[in-house]
Formats: sequence, C-alpha cells, structure tokens
Amino acid sequence: MNRMVVLAYSGGLDTSVCVKWLTERGHRVVAFMANVGQGDPSAKAIARAKAAGAARVIVRDLRREFVTDYCWPALQAHAVYEGKYLLATALSRPLIAAHLVDVAHRLRATAVAHGCTGKGNDQVRFEVTVRTLDPGLSILAPVREWEFKSREEEIDYAKRHGIPIDVSKRSPYSIDQNLWGTSIESGVLEDLWTEPPADTYRSIRSPERAAGVPAYVTVGFSRGAPTKLNGTPYSSVALVERLNRLGAAHGIGRSDLIESRVVGIKSREVYEAPAGTILLEAHQELERLVLDREMLQFKQGIAAEYARLVYAGLWLTPLKRALDAFVRETQRRATGTMRLKLFKGTCRVVGRSSPRSLYRERLATYSARDRFDQRAAEGFIKLYGLPYEGSGA
Ligand code: ARG
Repeated sequence: MNRMVVLAYSGGLDTSVCVKWLTERGHRVVAFMANVGQGDPSAKAIARAKAAGAARVIVRDLRREFVTDYCWPALQAHAVYEGKYLLATALSRPLIAAHLVDVAHRLRATAVAHGCTGKGNDQVRFEVTVRTLDPGLSILAPVREWEFKSREEEIDYAKRHGIPIDVSKRSPYSIDQNLWGTSIESGVLEDLWTEPPADTYRSIRSPERAAGVPAYVTVGFSRGAPTKLNGTPYSSVALVERLNRLGAAHGIGRSDLIESRVVGIKSREVYEAPAGTILLEAHQELERLVLDREMLQFKQGIAAEYARLVYAGLWLTPLKRALDAFVRETQRRATGTMRLKLFKGTCRVVGRSSPRSLYRERLATYSARDRFDQRAAEGFIKLYGLPYEGSGA
C-alpha cells in the first residue's frame, strides 16, 4: 500500500514532531516547505526535517504568487476581518494547500498532512481547500490526535528521537509570519488585561521607539495593483518588502484584538502588517478619488463579506470567485499615485493624483473660478425631497 504523505512543514517544533510521529506509524513522509516570505527556509530547517525522518524535503518559493494572486485581490477588496485583521495568515493557507495537493499529485501520494491544532482556523483553511481540489486525498492532522499534552512533552519526544530543536530560541508566543504580516498569539497575551509586552513587537518598532521624524512615500497604482514607490517601478515582492521595512521603522500596522474564530471561540490576537496597512490606506483613498458614488459605496459593503470568506477558509468557493470578478471590474479605474506620511504608528494619505480622478476643482471650489450652477440646486432639492413632503408631521 502507498503510505506516502505530503506534510505542510514549517521547520518548527510541531511539524518536526509530526514528521517523526507519522514515520513511526508507517508513513513515508515528504516535507513540503512553502516560502511565503517568512524568511528563507533555512538549511537548518531542512536538516531538521531529515533528522526527523523525512524521506524528502521539497521547497517552493511562492512569494510572487502569494503577493499577486492572494494579497493584491484582498487589498483591492479592502478585506479586513472584524475591522482589524489584514488576514496575512488566512491568505497564505489556501496557497500552501493548493501546492500541497499539487506535490501530492506529482508524487502520486494518497495523503496530505498539516500540523494545525483542533482549535484554530488554519486546519479549516487547509482542509477545505484540499478537499475542494481533491476529495480523494486523505488528510492527516497528527496534532489533533497525538498523545502530547504540552510543548514540554513534544520537546522530550524530539530529544528522544534526535530531532535538533533550538529550545533557547523558543518564543513564548505562537507566531506565524509571511510577507503580508505577522500573527502573534498565546503566552501572556491570553490575559486580556495585559498590554502586549515589548517582545511581542516582532517585525516593527513600537511607536515609542519609532523614528522621530516623519517619512513620506508615494505609492503608484496601475489598475489596482501597486507598481511604483517614489516613482520607481518595483516587482510585487520587492515592493511589499520595501514597504514592510519602511513601515516597520515608523511603527505602522499593529493591531490587538479579540477575534471570533471559525470554531466558535474568541481569542486574543496581535498582528503586524506594515506594508499591508500602508497599501490599504493608499488604495482606499485612491478609490475615493476615482470611483463614482454608487460604485464606491456598494463596494464598501462587500469588503467585510470578502474578509469573512477569506478568514473562514472559503477562498476557492463560488461566492468568493464572484466577488473577485466584481472587484476586478472596479479596478479598471484604480490608477494613480497616493502620497503618504508615516509617523509614530500612523499612516495618512496627504496627497492624491490620478488620470482617472473624478474630482473637478471648477465644481468644488469656493473661489471665483466656480463653474457650478448654484441656481440649479433649488429645483433639484424640490424634486429630491418631494416624496417626503409633509410626511414627518
Ligand atoms: N488567528 C489568526 C488566523 O486565524 C492567526 C493564526 C496564526 N497561526 C498560527 N499558527 N500562529 O488567521
């Protein structure tokens, strides 16, 4: 019987223990590592997978695909879950799952596996995506079944089996990182009254320690996609990396919230998304300039729904596809340049320009250049208010 399983491998403790645990149960484990910008899968992580018993380690650089096919559509939809989470982790899961399925097909494996717990959203995102693409694959989730009750027990198991784990570098938090952001949870954050300590700042400076002088940056968009910084063209990945560095220096893009998970529990989460926050601010302001009133306001109404679908692992569903088609249509006008000011945790658009701008100074001005026919307003209001005349008495 073919017992090959392709495991979504991160290099951390859980997935390293997964490799051994699956091997002990008769599986031939292929460790699949996706580079979504969490830092290059290190030689150390690859060696760790092998030491844990992986028959093979496969690494794919998915950064470009992640940014252009996952982050850009979410940015254009203005997807922010429960008003505070830019969905970095949530966006990466369907991408990783799709590649997991692809690797399984190429190797003729009959199963895939992940290292998610039974309490989180990531298991939902992985499994729904895998089953959408290939319901014939079995899905193994060792962490949901195994006997270990604490990280200490996992560390003991790793030590017993010669899996090199760097205990000294162990963070007191559970951290997931990619180009679009960093998710930080557990540890002291589980006490809701506790202010996130300094060591929860993972990718950005705290506003207190941020640069003392403001920085300005211009972001150029072409049909909704960010393409230029300060007038210079950038590739999608380089653009996000550059804005992450700039935003980090100015403490941009932190949020601390109580979040409603798919499985029904509330959890405390801290997020950092410097580039995403800057781009979202810029993109929203661009749309205010180029979209007509009906389109702009209708589109605002679907942002929360889009975020909910991404969060809930429903990336490959018909409704999400339909919303994508709508959002894509709205981006035909989204070309222009926004100038932003970054300072001590805040990021504001201070200048706007677009060849598709709907702003007409001769209509908006209160100066002598005014070309707006003020007398026309009288008749307009008469008819506009007609349905309600006398009805409020
Ligand atoms: N709560 C966030 C989400 O559902 C972050 C999950 C982070 N995952 C992790 N393994 N730490 O998207």
